[in-house]
Amino acid sequence: MISFTVNGQAVSGGEELKLMDFLREELHLTGTKDGCAQGACGACTVLVDGKAARACVFTLAKLAGKRVVTIEGLSPREKDVYAYAFGKAGAVQCGFCIPGMVMSAKALLDAVPAPNDAEIKKALRGNICRCTGYAKIEEAVRVAAGLLQSGEALPADAAGAALGESLVRVDAAEKTLGAGVYVDDIDLPGMLHASALRAAHPRARVLKIDASAALAHPDCVAVFTAKDVPGNNKIGHLAFISDWDVFIAEGDVTRYLGDSIALVVSREKRSLDEIKKLVRVDYEVLKPLISPAAAMAEGAPLLHAKERNILAHEHLIRGDAEAALAASAHVVSRHYSVPFTEHAFMEPECAIGQPEGEDGVLLYTAGQSIYDEQRECARMLGLEPEKVHVQGKLVGGGFGGKEDMSVQHHAALAAWLLKKPVKVLLSRAESLVVHPKRHAMEMDFTTGCNEEGRLTALRAVVVSDTGAYASLGGPVLQRACTHAAGPYNFQCIDIDGTAVYTNNPPAGAFRGFGVCQTAFAMEQNLNLLAEKVGLSPWAIRRLNAVRPGDVLPNGQIVDENCGLAECLDSVKADYENAKIAGISSFFKNSGLGVGLPDTGRCIVSVEGGKVHLRTSAACIGQGLATVITQVACKTLGLPPEMMVAEPPDTRRTPSSGTTTASRQSFFTGEATRRAAQLLRDELDAGKSLSELEGREFFGEYLGETDPMGADKPNPVSHVAYGYAAEVVILDEAGKVEKVVAAYDMGQVINPKAAEGQIEGGIVMGLGYALTEDYPLENGVPLAKYGTLGLWRATETPPMEIRFVQGPGLSPIAYGAKGCGELATIPTAPAVAGAYHKLDGKLRTKLPMEDTFYRKPKPPAQAETDCL
Ligand code: FES
Ligand code: FES
Repeated sequence: MISFTVNGQAVSGGEELKLMDFLREELHLTGTKDGCAQGACGACTVLVDGKAARACVFTLAKLAGKRVVTIEGLSPREKDVYAYAFGKAGAVQCGFCIPGMVMSAKALLDAVPAPNDAEIKKALRGNICRCTGYAKIEEAVRVAAGLLQSGEALPADAAGAALGESLVRVDAAEKTLGAGVYVDDIDLPGMLHASALRAAHPRARVLKIDASAALAHPDCVAVFTAKDVPGNNKIGHLAFISDWDVFIAEGDVTRYLGDSIALVVSREKRSLDEIKKLVRVDYEVLKPLISPAAAMAEGAPLLHAKERNILAHEHLIRGDAEAALAASAHVVSRHYSVPFTEHAFMEPECAIGQPEGEDGVLLYTAGQSIYDEQRECARMLGLEPEKVHVQGKLVGGGFGGKEDMSVQHHAALAAWLLKKPVKVLLSRAESLVVHPKRHAMEMDFTTGCNEEGRLTALRAVVVSDTGAYASLGGPVLQRACTHAAGPYNFQCIDIDGTAVYTNNPPAGAFRGFGVCQTAFAMEQNLNLLAEKVGLSPWAIRRLNAVRPGDVLPNGQIVDENCGLAECLDSVKADYENAKIAGISSFFKNSGLGVGLPDTGRCIVSVEGGKVHLRTSAACIGQGLATVITQVACKTLGLPPEMMVAEPPDTRRTPSSGTTTASRQSFFTGEATRRAAQLLRDELDAGKSLSELEGREFFGEYLGETDPMGADKPNPVSHVAYGYAAEVVILDEAGKVEKVVAAYDMGQVINPKAAEGQIEGGIVMGLGYALTEDYPLENGVPLAKYGTLGLWRATETPPMEIRFVQGPGLSPIAYGAKGCGELATIPTAPAVAGAYHKLDGKLRTKLPMEDTFYRKPKPPAQAETDCL
């Protein structure tokens, strides 16, 4: 046994134990987060003898006589200061990285009480944050340093809850201090642990599964396979195309490496891997289809019953693109290629199931919609949905990667069959393989303009690799196509898109939802046309930018709530005054649109003298609880202390749809406004809150749009669009020196939160442009968390975010529009434009080669398409 101290208390434990497991599982100090268990993310940072250290890489053997301090061991003053500083700076989004950030900051400030900016960045370089883009975390450290050094009392918070004021996030303090509850922080009495045995090959027939040796292990409780699924063995985010096997059954063929063959349930978490190795699976190994071309080839085996392995096909035609291109003064045509990329949210997937009532199950989850989880798990179990009770806990980032089932169905199944609580937690390695990625796409874009530079037509062919299962591959392809022509005022398009099943990991929703890919192609072609015409990249965008009353290429008439021209005007001087800069302007829908049912719902109730805001809308880091708090404060004229934003619960909170498509501020914001208005009406009629105790007020907003292919000259495809223009400035070596961004997201509810989301999106976009990759070899992912190419604080440039508005605001949700997805879209094309300015080379592949960030390829393979 090794003896040492944790937060001043003497403790001892077995020398082979990892410090992180000892802290979390033995001492229940769950503020130390498990983001990767590979030493790559910094979420587990603690102090060992005063120095920042990663708890996941230490075994207790190295800690004899040492002093360990965790986030729980901060002094009361430090807790107050860090909670204040991180909240005030807007540094907290999903929050999963924040306790680790605080511990790295403490290590710095204990040694260097007044650090400079470079020292702060250096101190945080081992801590990944996927949400914030680091700027606000660095600001929080500066604020904390000032307060700790001066010893001053914490300033009273001056920010109110009015729209446009930066009310401190309602969950900032609990997340900063590690007290907020993520699913893996929950430990229930008698809880079992389960883990799926994954496929050994991306494509292989499962001949036989023999679990006898596993079942003989003393810790093993059960091994479940397809035979044990009481309901439907298929799941799938879209009910009409549920094609994803809960388990691959004997006789069936695997479709990717993340397929589940069996679920092993153990009394002890630590013996799961050992038991999984005892499950014997005989395979007939088959050659995987690893590209859309191979999958569509004549005679290729079918992954699903879909001709040529084609999941979805879109063909958008308006006007006569061929004739318009033929008549154009200038035409450019290029092929673009973008890879799979990984969400890399900080919190690996985790769910807990436990029996509830006679034959029901209660699930603790961290997904993007509790009602999707309820629907899919109930169908798998063959139960009525009401029997599956889902409660959403804190979500440590999602970005689209937590829309599909990953662990929820397995936790539900094991708990329901065994009538015991069961936790399923993915290791980081599993998470990287299992959940859907951003689509790799191959794109041919031909774009024309007239002598003045006015766009005339776009012809595009887009082929996306949608991997093993449908997930959201169809809608992603559709958004890629509907947005391919950009926010520009022209009407001739011929866009042909195909999503193809392969034996690669499935691809689905990921921030940008297909538009990051096609924007990269469209915006580069626009730069090529600008050069032919003799316009600057800024000028050609300003010339073509849609204004209210114009018609988007998809046929929708642009409403007054459009500030694209204003975005471009805002960054004009930044672009023109920079020596080496690139620019991009783009747009992204808020809401599902295209005629799909899309509803926001909220119940406002008076309970215990407070106003409860009850909606299932998941906060995956964007700050939804704070947004609806501010909306309710505005509507009711009450202070934020009177509001309680409840977490999602299928028994308490009405369905407000999935957190996707930048929709929640708009849809749930409006539903909250409507519900709160009903309460307001009662208050205005003279009732007091105490007289209204126990009353509930229901608000619902249905966004009505026209379906794809609607027989209308100007269909309303989406209820709203956000617009943005970004300028990326490079130094002479090609290093990103600064990013300036102007965003039209209508009425900004909370500027700090919005800035933080945009900064995080930009940094994600810089990664997409320059460093991030998810390489595959014969369907086998090669990446680890530490090799994904995620940006760190030391690499992140200064960012300047500005908000602009169009001439009018929508009355819905006080004019708010989402920006979560948009924030990642314009960055990669702006970087490409800047590099083109730097060295004259057009980079048509991501991540870009031959940059400050990636060495040039050998000459034979280099992309040297000069203009
Ligand atoms: S959990 Fe330790 S570095 Fe990621
Ligand atoms: S707030 Fe840093 S990872 Fe989410």
